[in-house]
Amino acid sequence: MSLHASPSPRPAIFATASVPHGAITPAELERLGLKAEQVLDFSVNINPYGPPPGVREALLAAPIARYPDPEALALRRALAHHLDQPVSRILVGNGASELIWLTALAFLEAGDRILIAAPTYGEYARAARIMAAHVIEWRAFPQADFAMDPEAFLGLIKAHAPKIIFLCHPNNPTGQPVPLAALARGADEHPHSLFVVDEAYLPFAPTVRSALTLDRPNILVLRSVTKAYALAGLRLGYAVGPEPLVAALKRMQPPWSVNVMAQAAGLAALGQSRWLQNTLTRLQHNARNLMHTLRDMGRCPHPSATHYALLPVGDASRVRAALLRQGIVVRDATSFGLPHYIRIAARTPAENARLIHALTQLPSDL
Ligand SMILES: Cc1ncc(COP(=O)(O)O)c(C=O)c1O
Repeated sequence: MSLHASPSPRPAIFATASVPHGAITPAELERLGLKAEQVLDFSVNINPYGPPPGVREALLAAPIARYPDPEALALRRALAHHLDQPVSRILVGNGASELIWLTALAFLEAGDRILIAAPTYGEYARAARIMAAHVIEWRAFPQADFAMDPEAFLGLIKAHAPKIIFLCHPNNPTGQPVPLAALARGADEHPHSLFVVDEAYLPFAPTVRSALTLDRPNILVLRSVTKAYALAGLRLGYAVGPEPLVAALKRMQPPWSVNVMAQAAGLAALGQSRWLQNTLTRLQHNARNLMHTLRDMGRCPHPSATHYALLPVGDASRVRAALLRQGIVVRDATSFGLPHYIRIAARTPAENARLIHALTQLPSDL
């Protein structure tokens, strides 16, 4: 036996690299000699007015010496009330991220196919590839403002019979909603396919209707509590859908993955619906103003149903680096296959003014 023999992980785990996300890591800040307080982050799509009142007090009172409720019953009851859904149709998770991974674990076998509508959130493909599934991609065009072409997409479902269709509604990074009529048709025509609709950003898009309203046996909706309530550090999300689907995800979930602080914060945050409404209305207003100002400057952000949008630039990676030197973080969209775009999310009016100023300071070739 070789002295260097070592246990081999499953080959599928090497089939996919990690997915870049927004925000700036402490390691990158350290490399640049910056402190977190010195940068303003437009690269994450989080409510800049949060977290809501009452959350910090709830965190202090959380019984951290005890195990969390593995059923998260109090939080699921509050969500059930909030969503007007039975408790049995809800599973809470450690962020929407965990629920994406649980879906892949519960439903995918090696050789299965999944379908995504690119450019989109990278974790759907990553979770699928780790299960040794194949990823089929339909790609939206900038010329159509990245809107989904329902006929082309439904055609791919018919041709490939994917086990899972992952849809982001509204989409990250484009802000485009999924046409719900096409989703309903797809779900009805393909009862053996699971349609996972990630609504992490739905609260930021007041004109967009939830896929929950379709109520089909093969549609599972995922939501995030980390964006609209600004609780990204606590990790909280939930899945809502038909009981057998939710139960399958629950079977794959590690015990206690939603800790007592996240459960307590979620309960406190759900009680703040007026705060949520007020802050999201302000944010939509800020986003509209930001996009108008960008257009007045001759820039061309793509239309978006949300408070974030794709902005065409020369070289996204150079633009990000140049803005960082001014203390501004934007999302370089290269990992979405868009090396000439950055994604920016609106913040408060004063902060948006800083972004605009920083853009005016860019070298002319950017
Ligand atoms: C579309 C989408 N879904 C899910 C997530 C993850 O959300 P959470 O923080 O709830 O895990 C993100 C985070 O960026 C996202 O962009």
